[in-house]
Amino acid sequence: MPVLSRSNQLPNRAKQSLPLQILLIGPFVLQIFTAVGLTGYLSLQNGQKAVIEVAGQLQTEIASRVTENLQNYLQIPAQINQINQQAIAANWLPTTSVEKWQNHLWQQVNTFSKIGAIGIGTEKGEFITVGKNEAGVAVLNIASQSNNFAYEQYELNERGDRGQLLKKSENFDTRSRPPYKVAVKAGKAAWSEVFPHITDPMLVMTAVLPIQQQGKLVGVLQTRLNLPLVGEFLKPLKVGTTGQVFIVERSGTLIATSANEQPFRQQDQKTVKISVLESQNSLTLASGKQLFSTYGTLDRITTTQQLNCTLNGSRHFVQITPFADDKGLDWLIVVVVPESDFMAQIEANTRTTLYLCLAALGIATLLGFYTSRWITRPILKLQQASQAIAAGDLDRTVQITGIHELEGLARSFNHMAIQLKTSFTALETSNLELEERVLERTQTLSQTNTQLSTTLGELHRTQTQMVHSEKMSALGQLVAGIAHEINNPVNFIHGNLPHVHQYVKDMTHLVQGYQQHVSDAPLSLQQLVKEIDFEFVTEDLTKILKSMQVGTERIQQIVLSLRNFSRLDESELKAVDLHEGIDSTLLIMQHRLKSTVDRPAIQVIKDYGTLPMVECYAGALNQVFMNLLTNAIDALEESKQNQTFTDTEKISDHIIIHTELINTDAVRITITDNGIGIPTERRSRIFDPFFTTKPIGQGTGLGLSVSYQIITEQHHGQLSYDSTPGKGTKFAIEIPINQTSAAVDELQNYR
Ligand SMILES: Nc1ncnc2c1ncn2[C@@H]1O[C@H](COP(=O)(O)OP(=O)(O)OP(=O)(O)O)[C@@H](O)[C@H]1O
Ligand SMILES: [Mg+2]
Repeated sequence: MPVLSRSNQLPNRAKQSLPLQILLIGPFVLQIFTAVGLTGYLSLQNGQKAVIEVAGQLQTEIASRVTENLQNYLQIPAQINQINQQAIAANWLPTTSVEKWQNHLWQQVNTFSKIGAIGIGTEKGEFITVGKNEAGVAVLNIASQSNNFAYEQYELNERGDRGQLLKKSENFDTRSRPPYKVAVKAGKAAWSEVFPHITDPMLVMTAVLPIQQQGKLVGVLQTRLNLPLVGEFLKPLKVGTTGQVFIVERSGTLIATSANEQPFRQQDQKTVKISVLESQNSLTLASGKQLFSTYGTLDRITTTQQLNCTLNGSRHFVQITPFADDKGLDWLIVVVVPESDFMAQIEANTRTTLYLCLAALGIATLLGFYTSRWITRPILKLQQASQAIAAGDLDRTVQITGIHELEGLARSFNHMAIQLKTSFTALETSNLELEERVLERTQTLSQTNTQLSTTLGELHRTQTQMVHSEKMSALGQLVAGIAHEINNPVNFIHGNLPHVHQYVKDMTHLVQGYQQHVSDAPLSLQQLVKEIDFEFVTEDLTKILKSMQVGTERIQQIVLSLRNFSRLDESELKAVDLHEGIDSTLLIMQHRLKSTVDRPAIQVIKDYGTLPMVECYAGALNQVFMNLLTNAIDALEESKQNQTFTDTEKISDHIIIHTELINTDAVRITITDNGIGIPTERRSRIFDPFFTTKPIGQGTGLGLSVSYQIITEQHHGQLSYDSTPGKGTKFAIEIPINQTSAAVDELQNYR
């Protein structure tokens, strides 16, 4: 099974890469978180905005209601004063006797239930008011001339009659009381300042109207307003849940408040006004402080002001609305609303949003987890399968159900795996085939290579052989030609010599016969006989003829030898006498063996054994003999050049030719010389074609290589040598007697 390389396997999870589960859950959760968070944040923001708006609206609403109520309340005292002024003007009420006012005032008080007291103080010092005390009982306050201007308070019964005296005070002068003073000072309808009630624990304020008769002040109409009344309508106002509204003067004096406190304090059984900064209510106090710290002095507030500030550690909205009238009233209505009143619901909403968000987050995470598991499981399966395939398990397939796209992917994957397997199998097969083919080719190539080198070697050998055989055949032709040319005349001479001998013999007999039978031969003849020394000539002629016969016989032998050597007619295998071949070769080499100027003649010692006829290519074998003999002569001559004088005397140059029958099948011919020998370093090379140590033009270096070929290949024999440098060399030829059987033997050996 093929195993993919490591680099082909699925890459290891990169360090930066994220698991699919996180990838799937992350964005999911993030989206929900962002969406819910953003919604929550925006709703909170909008809620806050709305709260500010609503708070503002509420404050404005409350302020306007307060303003309206104040206007309603505050106009009543002024109207009562006006009514009473008109009554005075119509003389219904005398300014001279205040006691006559009692019934009228009592009725008025009953009519205007919210009014504290109605009355008049005169320039003379008289004073009458009818009002209601703390307990809601109608009381008459009077200081008249009749009781010496002492202040007395009487209870009034349901018919308006004086009842019992409740209080009495000697030190009372209406003219020194604040309302009177204000009216005098203003000279018109005005409000007294807020002041504590003389007997009751409350703050009051009096609307005053100076009465003039004939341009002179006669008295001051006074209608008292009990400020707790204002507090009463402030209290039910719902300012959020914990908010409040209070009214202050520009000085900071607290006029009325919706808070559960009195806008004054009791000091030495006296009622004392308090500043807002002395308030017992923490919110009122904090608001007051905030006002002063924001504006420095409250006089600077001319229009409605809105403040968002932190009071007592939490955010509050504060609205300040100036309230003034033409009678010198100059108040500030302060509405304080804590943000928490509105925010509670919004915060609850925010909390709900947060819980929802967390729940959604949890659900999203859970959903994401399961979804991602649902998605990643098949992907993991695919991953494992692809890893298995990468590791070589090509039979691996994946089964995925549930997700349409992944099912498709799995189908494609399985298909791909099958194709991969098919491809791999095909690849393997083709790989094997390829390997086999490569092997085959390599073998073929190496065979071809061997063949080529063999062919090359053969070519080389053939070439050298051709060169040498050309040389030798030229020599053979020359020798054969000469032999042929000489043969005929020699034969002619040799053939006629016996006749010449016979004729000479006959003629000598004839002359000798003449000499015996003719005794008196002429003197000139006898002279001639003497002169030519006839007897000697006769003797010598016979000798000459004999020697001529020997000469022609020798020439005939030489011709034979020459023909023997050339053996042109014997290119076929033929059984020959090797000694004949050696001799004829020696014969044509005779000239080289003779003595020269440089050396004496070379002695050839023939040590011939008894040889049978040997089957061979005689011409080629003669070439071998000639090569070996030539080399021997060359070696002798070379050694001669190197020899000292004393050496030459010791050993004469010789070549020993030894022949023997080494067994029934083969003969050995050795040619030994006592020449220069072959140095060890040349021994491996002397059979190489063209290896020669001889001067250029003298040796071609082919002699031994051709001889080696002739002996080993043509004659299935061996050519070896043994040499001692400086002493001589012995070449040995061994050839089988029967070439045909030798060839068969060799073939069998080869097999
Ligand atoms: N009998 C010998 N004694 C010493 N050296 C020899 C003998 N025979 C051969 N050699 C050495 O071997 C060499 C090769 O001989 P080979 O016959 O092949 O070539 P060659 O004689 O140089 O040239 P040629 O082609 O004329 O024969 C010679 O040059 C010589 O050095
Ligand atoms: Mg040679």
